[in-house]
Amino acid sequence: MALQDIAGDARDQVATAPATIRVELWDLPIRIFHWSLLAAVATAIVTGKLGGEWMGLHGKAGITIVGLIAFRVVWGLVGSTTARFSHFVPTPFEVLAYLQGKWQGMGHNPLGALSVLALLGLLAVQASSGLFSSDDIAFTGPLTGLVNEDLSLKLTSWHHQLANVLFILLGLHVAAIVFYGAVKKDKLLKPMVTGWKDVPADMPAPRRGRRIAVIAAVVLGLGAAYVASGLWIKIEPPKPAPEVTRTHAPAW
Ligand code: HEM
Ligand code: HEM
Repeated sequence: MALQDIAGDARDQVATAPATIRVELWDLPIRIFHWSLLAAVATAIVTGKLGGEWMGLHGKAGITIVGLIAFRVVWGLVGSTTARFSHFVPTPFEVLAYLQGKWQGMGHNPLGALSVLALLGLLAVQASSGLFSSDDIAFTGPLTGLVNEDLSLKLTSWHHQLANVLFILLGLHVAAIVFYGAVKKDKLLKPMVTGWKDVPADMPAPRRGRRIAVIAAVVLGLGAAYVASGLWIKIEPPKPAPEVTRTHAPAW
């Protein structure tokens, strides 16, 4: 092949290859949130199933999840571009466009966004119901004392049933990641580990959340975990037994 032909081919390739830029798709707070959530949810599921002496750890994992979800809600309002609900909560038209293969964007796609919202919502309800549950043996959730027994029984039953819905959602979550990697050749996992992804050059690079936003999200997350822990509930110290003063000698 002549030198000019090779040069021509190379020029054509440059002209047709879509230009990409590398952007930080998921910033550090989101990645720390995701992998901590995975560890806490896995711990809650395993210890919940083991029961017995594992329930103390179960409660701690659950309270950690309350804190993480609260952090994520705040980060979804004031955090980095791709973490914001306003960036990824889809309209019905966007879902339709996605299903027709016409959606273009970065971050959670419209269908993925719906599954993320379902997962976060379900985890919030699951953890909250746990706070009022009891295993009828030795472990009660830290806020159980705030509700009557009937409501606690109802919430314990929800806690059991919702765990099964959670297993299905988590199965779908992991299956979707594998499907996108294997079939659609869109490796979603790498950006959730490294943060970075190549996207079409015409897309605006996401903005990182500000430091003050990180502080606000962490403080409110810790606050939510504290409320869930029930440590603020005043436990009345047992009243001292009334002193018995004997005025008469016993009859014997
Ligand atoms: C998202 C967080 C949580 C998940 C995924 C989770 C999951 C589970 C699972 C899988 C079980 C066993 C259910 C079964 O055997 O069918 C369970 C039981 C239980 N969980 Fe949770 N849990 C969470 C949060 C909490 C929290 C925060 C508390 C309280 C601090 C709690 C208290 C309980 C209690 C008391 C039981 C025993 C219920 C019984 O034996 O009837 N859970 N949980
Ligand atoms: C207990 C298990 C898990 C839970 C609770 C969970 C939860 C979540 C949540 C809530 C998000 C949304 C992130 C956000 O915007 O805040 C997410 C995204 C993601 N998760 Fe998980 N996850 C779990 C396991 C896994 C596993 C095992 C993998 C790896 C195979 C994984 C890979 C990803 C990826 C790649 C994304 C980004 C998806 C996208 O680009 O739209 N997750 N996960």
